[in-house]
Amino acid sequence: MPLRHSFAPMTQSLPDQLRATVRFLGRILGDVIRAEDGEAVFSQIEEIRQASVAFHREGTPEAARVMADRLAGLSLPDTVRFAHSFAVFLQITNIAEDQIQRRRGRAGDARADTLAGALRALKADGVGTEAVAELLRTALIAPVITAHPSEVRRKSVLDRQSAIAYDLDLFDHARSDVERAGIERELVRQVSIFWRTRLLRSVRIAVSDEIENAVSYFDRSFLAELPRLYAHWRDVMGGEDLPSFLRVGSWVGGDRDGNPYVTAQVMRQALMRQSRAALRMYLERIHALGAELSMSVRLADVTPGLQALADHSHDESPHRSDEPYRRALTGIYARLAATYPGLTGEAPPRPSSKAAEPYDSPQALKADLQTVLDSLLQKHGPAFAAGPLPDLIRAVDVFGFHLATLDMRQNSSVHARVVAELLKTAGVCDDYEALDEPARCELLTKELGHGRLLATPFANYSEETARELETLAMAADVKRRYGPEAIRAYIVSNTQSVSDLLEVYLLLKEVGLYRPGDAPSAEIFAEPLFETIEDLRAASKTMARYLSLPLIRKLLVQPGLQEVMIGYSDSNKDGSYLTSTWELHKASRALCAVVGGEGLRLQLFHGRGGAVGRGGGSSFEALLAQPQGTVHGRIRITEQGEVVANKYADPEIARQSLETLTAGVVLASLRRQAADELAAPHSKAMDALARTAMGAYRALVYETPGFVDYFYAATPISEIADLNIGSRPTSRQATRSIQGLRAIPWVFSWSQSRAMAPGWFGFGSAVEKGGVSMAQLRELNEVWPFFQSMLANMEMVLAKSDLAIAGRYAGLVEDRALADHVFGEIRAEWERTHAALLEITGQSQLLEKNPDLAAVIRSRLPYIDPLNHLQIELIRRRRRGDEDEAVREGIHLTINGVAAGLRNTG
Ligand code: PGA
Repeated sequence: MPLRHSFAPMTQSLPDQLRATVRFLGRILGDVIRAEDGEAVFSQIEEIRQASVAFHREGTPEAARVMADRLAGLSLPDTVRFAHSFAVFLQITNIAEDQIQRRRGRAGDARADTLAGALRALKADGVGTEAVAELLRTALIAPVITAHPSEVRRKSVLDRQSAIAYDLDLFDHARSDVERAGIERELVRQVSIFWRTRLLRSVRIAVSDEIENAVSYFDRSFLAELPRLYAHWRDVMGGEDLPSFLRVGSWVGGDRDGNPYVTAQVMRQALMRQSRAALRMYLERIHALGAELSMSVRLADVTPGLQALADHSHDESPHRSDEPYRRALTGIYARLAATYPGLTGEAPPRPSSKAAEPYDSPQALKADLQTVLDSLLQKHGPAFAAGPLPDLIRAVDVFGFHLATLDMRQNSSVHARVVAELLKTAGVCDDYEALDEPARCELLTKELGHGRLLATPFANYSEETARELETLAMAADVKRRYGPEAIRAYIVSNTQSVSDLLEVYLLLKEVGLYRPGDAPSAEIFAEPLFETIEDLRAASKTMARYLSLPLIRKLLVQPGLQEVMIGYSDSNKDGSYLTSTWELHKASRALCAVVGGEGLRLQLFHGRGGAVGRGGGSSFEALLAQPQGTVHGRIRITEQGEVVANKYADPEIARQSLETLTAGVVLASLRRQAADELAAPHSKAMDALARTAMGAYRALVYETPGFVDYFYAATPISEIADLNIGSRPTSRQATRSIQGLRAIPWVFSWSQSRAMAPGWFGFGSAVEKGGVSMAQLRELNEVWPFFQSMLANMEMVLAKSDLAIAGRYAGLVEDRALADHVFGEIRAEWERTHAALLEITGQSQLLEKNPDLAAVIRSRLPYIDPLNHLQIELIRRRRRGDEDEAVREGIHLTINGVAAGLRNTG
């Protein structure tokens, strides 16, 4: 049986526009290489390209041999240059793909994944606009940007991509050949810079770089785009202003789990940089409004409120004495400029000449701006209800002085150690960690019931405890300075028990962020992250015990909700794709029942990455596949690694991504899910499938002797570890165990080696041995969005996987018997999975029913595959002791290129 699976036939072309754009950019890159490096270099690259394309088209041994010969003939410097060229080409292909998405986005409200599209779909279901408005009144939708290290592109590369995308847009809209020629010249210039830009980071990225990166997205794509979206939605909703339910979150500078470099100072720095971006934007906008609103009292009246604001502005300029709006805005500017240094640690870019009192809260700034708007509306009419001032007010409402709400995160094991040390030092309990769960809970609830603190300045705490206490104190300081929205949640990684959550409140109490009493209160709430299969299965019971504690009941009265985070990657690493997907679904349902049963709202926080093995795939489909009742207008979702740039680097695509998220939430919350009710009878089938899949997966990963050695040899895991793409270490523990390895390098390695097991392994066995009939599986696929979405994601992964290439990686394993055994298992399971998927979906080949995606993937493979072949050879050389720097560089370039080509790999 051939290992290279086939797609829908090659003649099925890539959507025409995409192909044309790829060719256009490819031609420019070719011209640049020819002009700068000469014909010989160009021909060498071009010959390999053609050989690879021919191999993909024909798939014959002869074509394979030609390609292999060409690759084998490359010298080391040529190999490095070749890897660079294909990686650049793949990055450029991505620009073309995004360009198509932008064009698609311009279909605007005609699309289904917009608020207007959701309203249309709901109307057909008999759900009116009023129900949507009602839902959004208490909604919260928040993408949360994290620094998970799966983005291989440097900022310089991202910037070049943006510049080229911008030029492509101009090209689209050019009105004459002369104009087009000018834009093409600029494109050549940009591609030429790109061609000479180093793709690899020479030093490890630091947390401060991660903060700057995150802030650059907030700056470019959130600060301006969110208010525009709200303004658009006002029209969509027939003139009704929606509350600010769509907000932004961040983990960058707050996620300490396994990252020792995220300290108290770093957390402060994150808020300072965020605040700086927001305040600069407000200052600019206020300044511009001041320039614009030149109405004179001689020609128009103002409200008394506006007059008072103008009179208090200390603006004595004779030029403006009759222009109260300008005077009022000068005063607002001066106050905000006075606020700036305290929040950002630096002087404002354009200081005010007037001494003014700083604003003590964003609400005070908003109130002043509202006074200006009220006067405009009263005296000049509804034309002022839209435009720069309402946009600015919306921005202040959404972003405050903090811009994005930062979550804190730490591992439960750290809290346990710190709490133990505090209790011991205070003489309360000698060995907290030796206590069983009931005893821990009893002790913690008692401590949370009174006001005495544990920490003392006289004690000599361990470094870990001192660091945690310092971070907590900083959290309190940050909240004081930047407002309550600056930090709301404290995520507890690896939550297994009630005490894991109580410990956090005990720590928060030390810095006044938890206050005991008859009506205990907190300013930051502890939130569990359930991330193994076992913990997900137990999640609802754990939460039921937690929420039944009288102390917690009282504490949660005021927020009226409990957030629970569920982890996609780690549950996948623990128990396989199918099992994790199902257990997440079931846990969501069960949590909804338990939290709802306590009279609270559940807010799920989905911790998902870009690769399917980490919960990736279409967010819209994923939302529609959520169990009924679990969304209800409130959701947070992580946006990680390469996904952040893919969705938010371009402001137009960012707006689309945010709108898609919103439309998905609205539909998931209000749509009648007839199919979902069918889920109950099918649950049993899913349970059986999940059990079998997990058995097969764990037999391979956790029960096969030598599996860890296989994994370390047959994937570029060790090479990925020094790619410099993230600030945190790749493992939580200094061991080689799969449990200790973080999910990102795990999934990333499998993607690079093209086996991509985390996206499918176990499914074939589940279908073959799970005892569920094909008829039932087909029915599930017909009626159940959850099942469809799972299969669609898996199908995409299978289409990107390549067992022939994966087999060559297996060749890197020195123990041949081990390699044959493990790879044999992988291959057999792949065949089973492939066959099962085709049978369930009624296709004769992968993506037969999705020819556009098939074409997109197929067009990339001729560029990805040679990089894989070179990577294998270079890894072999390196592992045999070749210390040549070019070998290392070549490996990293191929990793970079393969990641660019596969797009959602990390
Ligand atoms: P974590 O993230 O390793 O930070 O828990 C898991 C993931 O998203 O892969």
